[in-house]
Amino acid sequence: MSSPNTPTPELTADGFDTLYSPAYGQTYHSKHGALAEARHVFLEGAGVDERLAQGLSTRVLEVGFGTGLNFLLTAHRAAASQAPLHYVALEKDVLPAGVLAGLNHGPRLDALALRDALVAWRRALPEPPPFGIHGRRFSEILLLDLIVGDATIAPLPNLAFDAVYLDAFSPDANPELWTPDFLGRLFEVMRPGGKLATYSAKGSVRRGLEAVGFRTGKRSGPPGKREMLVAVR
Ligand SMILES: C[S@@+](CC[C@H](N)C(=O)[O-])C[C@H]1O[C@@H](n2cnc3c(N)ncnc32)[C@H](O)[C@@H]1O
Repeated sequence: MSSPNTPTPELTADGFDTLYSPAYGQTYHSKHGALAEARHVFLEGAGVDERLAQGLSTRVLEVGFGTGLNFLLTAHRAAASQAPLHYVALEKDVLPAGVLAGLNHGPRLDALALRDALVAWRRALPEPPPFGIHGRRFSEILLLDLIVGDATIAPLPNLAFDAVYLDAFSPDANPELWTPDFLGRLFEVMRPGGKLATYSAKGSVRRGLEAVGFRTGKRSGPPGKREMLVAVR
């Protein structure tokens, strides 16, 4: 059932849909290209693409599961090189199966079977999904743990993550996911050398990351953005 706050699809410049969130007044991805942003900022920025290409077993923590696009792309990359992937994602407002199924990610994603399996799994969850961890093993090498609830209070599993995708809405719209307190909790569950990537290049975010112990660096941004941040534990 849709409410005035139900996100609605919007086409981005590379032909992939994103969603517009009336509640946050923002889209889930860059309008300059959802696919390009996911690949450039997260898979490449956090070093996950490189790890998976080498067949390395990889643990990713995502802040803001949203449409699952980052998950699908990462899982597809892992499958291509048979690299084991444990993907843990935090999400407060899990999107309804109908919204996920309506996005045009599938046919052009090369991961249609996985997208369909994700939608089917979502359909089988209670509505709304209860707080807590919902795990789904999609294959011998692919495990998704979706942690439903407010990320600022949900216990974070200390898995020594290789990578963190910090994909909250902007610091102005979604401030609780950019505080030094929350960034410090992310730091704690990463392994030394693990990389956190975010599309934001704001000075306050960089300072917050450094205040909790990360070493930060700027990288060229995805289409439409000059810079982004990578932080290394
Ligand atoms: C920019 S979108 C994420 C896009 C997503 N990574 C994708 O590939 O579609 C931000 C997400 O953070 C979630 N979110 C916002 N505040 C949250 C909170 N306090 N705890 C957990 N999730 C939150 C929103 O519901 C939304 O799905």
